[in-house]
Amino acid sequence: MAFPITSSFTITFISTLLLLFKASISLNNTWDVDEHWTMSKEGSIPTSDADLLEFALNLEYLEAEFFLWGSVGHGLDQIDPTLAEGGPQPYGAQKASLDNVTQDVIYQFALQEVGHLRAIKKTVKGFPRPLLNLSASNFASVIDSAFETHLRPPFNPYANSTNFLIASYLIPYVGLTGYVGAIPKLQSPAAKKLVAGLLAVEAGQDAVIRTLLYERRAQSVGLYQRKVEWFANTISKLRNKLGKGGLKDEGLLVPPKVGAEGKVGGNILAGDKYSLGYPRTPEEILRIVYGSGDEKKVGGFFPKGAKGKIAKSHYDNVNSLNHKHKRSKKGSIPSLDVDLLEFPLNLEYLEAEFFLWGSVGYGLDKVDPKLANGGDAPFGAQKAFLDPVTRDVIYQFGLQEVGHLRAIKKTVKGFPRPLLNMSASHFANVIDEAFGYALKPPFNPYANSINFLLASYLIPYVGLTGYVGAADKLQSPPAKKLVAGLLAVESGQDAIIRGLLYDRRLQKVAPYGITVQEFTDKISKLRNKLGKAGTKDVGLGSAHDMSKGKGGILAGDEHAVGYPRSPEQILRIVYGSGDEKTTGGFYPEGAYGKIAQHYHK
Ligand SMILES: *[C@@H]1O[C@H](CO)[C@@H](O)[C@H](O)[C@H]1NC(C)=O
Ligand SMILES: *[C@@H]1O[C@H](CO)[C@@H](O)[C@H](O)[C@H]1NC(C)=O
Ligand SMILES: *[C@@H]1O[C@H](CO)[C@@H](O)[C@H](O)[C@H]1NC(C)=O
Ligand SMILES: *[C@@H]1O[C@H](CO)[C@@H](O)[C@H](O)[C@H]1NC(C)=O
Ligand SMILES: *[C@@H]1O[C@H](CO)[C@@H](O)[C@H](O)[C@H]1NC(C)=O
Repeated sequence: MAFPITSSFTITFISTLLLLFKASISLNNTWDVDEHWTMSKEGSIPTSDADLLEFALNLEYLEAEFFLWGSVGHGLDQIDPTLAEGGPQPYGAQKASLDNVTQDVIYQFALQEVGHLRAIKKTVKGFPRPLLNLSASNFASVIDSAFETHLRPPFNPYANSTNFLIASYLIPYVGLTGYVGAIPKLQSPAAKKLVAGLLAVEAGQDAVIRTLLYERRAQSVGLYQRKVEWFANTISKLRNKLGKGGLKDEGLLVPPKVGAEGKVGGNILAGDKYSLGYPRTPEEILRIVYGSGDEKKVGGFFPKGAKGKIAKSHYDNVNSLNHKHKRSKKGSIPSLDVDLLEFPLNLEYLEAEFFLWGSVGYGLDKVDPKLANGGDAPFGAQKAFLDPVTRDVIYQFGLQEVGHLRAIKKTVKGFPRPLLNMSASHFANVIDEAFGYALKPPFNPYANSINFLLASYLIPYVGLTGYVGAADKLQSPPAKKLVAGLLAVESGQDAIIRGLLYDRRLQKVAPYGITVQEFTDKISKLRNKLGKAGTKDVGLGSAHDMSKGKGGILAGDEHAVGYPRSPEQILRIVYGSGDEKTTGGFYPEGAYGKIAQHYHK
């Protein structure tokens, strides 16, 4: 699209927010996630689900140790030895020489991984920490094989922030694609719910790492005469090659035809042509983390192999598990899944219009009128005064939402665009309600970048929690797969918005003299209040347990697992009424689709 040349860079953010909700269509309150999805005891999880959950532990161990050691110079053995269960100490891990911002972010990631280990081990038995090779020389050999040469001096991930971020680019994304790949195969609600929550946060971590690298993409790395973007692109190519699963990995810059909607070359988040996250099978992941391109040939980060039944079935050769990952056929989507897939269209429309209008001053009616399907034009939408970087990012978000609308409408029939109230005065009302008094002058989301980002903080996260809430209720593999892909990108968008705001959290928003952080905390509190389902939302300043008093760059529960919301909870928030039956707010005539319309008659 025309976008690429507009400004200094083209950033392709591939995140999107969609919400999927699971609904169980008995017309009771069955969409209420909370009432039904208590964490299951081990017994109720089928073996195939347990194997997939356990497989993920391998990567969580790797990430936890790498991030802990890199940020604070010690690992699980000091933080919580019971989690290591007597597994061997990681080989060659060390503290990295990081600037304060990177250290802060990486330490938060580390604690999130610790939470993930706990969450998985609470659900399945698991295994002790496998032997991990975190030595600088192991990273150097990965980088050498990506470059197909010997870098001199050898690449050292621990030398400084840029190097550490490049090394971090290596890891979480692999886990992320694994979660996207796992969701369609899971059977039990408990496992689906847990993986959706893990995916939400892993996707956020990956997005933050990509953003930090994106900001430095034109910097040279060390003495190598190569830029950051070259490193990222080359690592992505190596992973595609080793994984042998085709294109599932993209660097920070791509040919525009591969970018969001085939229109942008910047690629802050990776996704397919519908801006959906890519899935990987356990075998593809093993080929990558072993560095051998062969799931039977252990090595790389796991010198003695990954643990658990799936990984072992390949190198033990005992009895190869028959885990073929068949591609599911389309077509057979049960009506409950259809309703759950249609519901998030409401939010995708809102996000698509808001991001498109805000960045380029027009919306779906110009980009692709078929997608609007004759729905009313959005009320009060306008172009925002954005700095070039913010505009590029937001435009990419807009295109990603367009991709998501297409992806959903390709799968289910859907409905026309609902009437959306995107007027500045509506946003002002929401902000006034969050603060409990009328700000003077009224808050204007379109006035500048910071205001627009704060307004953006309002929306995608609600969609994200909806996808997390939906994942465990879906039945058909195509629906599960679609939602997993949407969730991956949506989480990335939310993480980037949070990341951009987190950078400026202590900045005062003019002319109110109120910090960015306080805005986010108030907005999150308002959403919790309207949603009427407890805490599912935390601002940037919220110090929840896992962050040990540090900032909350990503939101999650005490195990750093993403929060779920039901469609009702979402309607209460986007209507601004705290009541799914009282329409208004962003949807003056209500949201569309069977789930929403069930409430307003
Ligand atoms: C609602 O749920 C209750 C309890 O599960 C059940 O007895 C009732 O029949 C349900 N009502 C409808 C309309 O499904
Ligand atoms: C980084 O953190 C250290 C320790 O908290 C502090 O002494 C130093 O001033 C910080 N540096 C910057 C640039 O903020
Ligand atoms: C870790 O990797 C390096 C580089 O390949 C290798 O020299 C070292 O022996 C490995 N350590 C273990 C414990 O496998
Ligand atoms: C990072 O570390 C490498 C190796 O010590 C060094 O050559 C390079 O200049 C450093 N880069 C930055 C940005 O400090
Ligand atoms: C949008 O919201 C504003 C502020 O509440 C209100 O004045 C306006 O009438 C609303 N527009 C529509 C179409 O509902």
